[in-house]
Amino acid sequence: MCGIVGYIGGRQAVSIIMDGLKRLEYRGYDSAGIAVFDDTQTISVRRASGKLRNLEEALRQNPTDGNFGIGHTRWATHGRPTEENAHPHRDSKGNLVVVHNGIVENYLVLRHGLQARGHVFLSETDTEIIAHLVEDAFTGNLEEAVRAALAQIQGVLAIAIISRLDPNKIVAARQGPPVVIGLGEDEYFVASDVPAILSHTRDMFFLADGDMAILTASGVTLTDFVGNPVTRSVSRILWDPIMAEKGGYKHFMQKEIYEQPRSTRDTMLGRLGAESGRAFLDEVLISPEQMRGFRQIRIVACGTSWHAALAGKFLIEKLARVPVEVDYGSEFRYRDPILGPDTLTIVISQSGETADTLAAQREAKSKGSPTLAICNVIGSMITREAAGMLMTHAGPEIGVASTKAFTSQLTALFVLALYLGQERGTLTEAQVRAQIEEALKIPGKMEQILASEVIYQNLARSLHKAKDFLYLGRGIHFPIALEGALKLKEISYIHAEGYPAGEMKHGPNALIDENLPVVILAAYDPDDAESRLRYEKTVSNIQEVKARSGIVVAISNEGDKEIAEMADYVIPIPVTSEMLLPLLEIIPMQLLAYHIAVRLGCDVDQPRNLAKSVTVE
Ligand code: F6R
Repeated sequence: MCGIVGYIGGRQAVSIIMDGLKRLEYRGYDSAGIAVFDDTQTISVRRASGKLRNLEEALRQNPTDGNFGIGHTRWATHGRPTEENAHPHRDSKGNLVVVHNGIVENYLVLRHGLQARGHVFLSETDTEIIAHLVEDAFTGNLEEAVRAALAQIQGVLAIAIISRLDPNKIVAARQGPPVVIGLGEDEYFVASDVPAILSHTRDMFFLADGDMAILTASGVTLTDFVGNPVTRSVSRILWDPIMAEKGGYKHFMQKEIYEQPRSTRDTMLGRLGAESGRAFLDEVLISPEQMRGFRQIRIVACGTSWHAALAGKFLIEKLARVPVEVDYGSEFRYRDPILGPDTLTIVISQSGETADTLAAQREAKSKGSPTLAICNVIGSMITREAAGMLMTHAGPEIGVASTKAFTSQLTALFVLALYLGQERGTLTEAQVRAQIEEALKIPGKMEQILASEVIYQNLARSLHKAKDFLYLGRGIHFPIALEGALKLKEISYIHAEGYPAGEMKHGPNALIDENLPVVILAAYDPDDAESRLRYEKTVSNIQEVKARSGIVVAISNEGDKEIAEMADYVIPIPVTSEMLLPLLEIIPMQLLAYHIAVRLGCDVDQPRNLAKSVTVE
């Protein structure tokens, strides 16, 4: 995620940039930094780990200012959240500095190449590479050097760069993450998001992918990465500042639901090779030999992360044929679990601070089991204590009810299962390639689902008075049913239960009457015989619910006429493979819960009795 801000004009830049960073702190907050071109014609940099107030303190102790500069608030992806890893990052001689939001995918190759040419790196970040690449290409004109550097970089980025050797300009570029340019009177702004600059101007435009902006005190020039001129139309932004922080959405949870195509794409980035047809997990710090050697896997987590863990069991057992057991963090250490060095223990946590999950991780370590953290916060306790890390790139999640972190966890588990299957030889090359091709289409399919919000508003209108809900799924869809039920109960306070669809006749059928909405996961992969079989069984479940006058809400393949005839309400989703369906089918359930909670007037972002991180037992 991360947030960037830049200013150029007649005023002193530091307070403008710091004010912008404060408004972007929601994008990440593990460290921050600022750089300005000062009176001595050099670039002075101040950085601090931790919250923005630490940077404020650093500036109080060692003030600086100038008429142009850039700043950054960080959400770590590569490298721990230390001062050395905080942005801005500089080139070898301190002539230029860069702030960056995104991921340089080929950073290892580039870093090795630069080191071979004598460049010395001061941080563990992928961003520092950009500064050195620009340094290498610089012959007097900053934008030309940035273009040359960009030509070598694979990945996603939003950057802003200033140089002492070609001063009085900020060069910004976008390939992926957002960049907005603000137009004032003889002053110009660049930022990751509207709220950072809204108190200075309402006239803005967003860069498109492949755009570069050169900001000076007298105007903004726009080109593509090759140097051809481009134009973008300016909009007048009428949001109030609070609305702006939520990106125009009513709640953070709603914004985070809509961010899922991005967070899913980012979590796949660099790990699923479209051309090579291979899965890569070079960064996990557990060697491929070790990965091949584990005889069993334990996954431990709490709440929503536990639901991801349960889906992970299906993914890993199906794709890699390793036996997996799943535990609640709160139960694990009280039952003397049997595990040792031949067991990989995976701990899943959005925050990386959940006390029960951390205690379970320590229990596994004490028994000699290597631990792998699937986590959203680098530098958190769980990542610090793990042997290996697989970061989810969801960015900060502010709504208490987890949404984008959950789909990022599912994505990370899918990548891990595919990688294990590839390394252990349980999948053929063609099978790995086919899964990757399908996975890369998921963000686009999520966008399709998110395009029709009105379905959920209408459903919420019809169903918000229900006192209880049931959620049913089979196989990998059962954990998703549990997650759908959790979303509804935690934000709307309506009682909801998730159940394996096949277990209905062993008791819960007694609950069904004309007042009970039953959400049934009935999407399937028509090309997969097992998935078709599960579908047929699910169709029988729908008939059983209908026979008892229950209200069926079916999440099914688009164009499925059979389900449309049986169900009271149908939510169509695009077709995908069985193992990837969870990533799509959870979104309608998140939106249904959200719209019901809004209708009931509940505090969606901070539901009663709950906290975002549960750091006590
Ligand atoms: C529910 C939710 C919680 C968390 C749980 C674990 O929406 O967010 O159930 O999933 O408290 O938190 P992490 O993943 O931070 O360990």
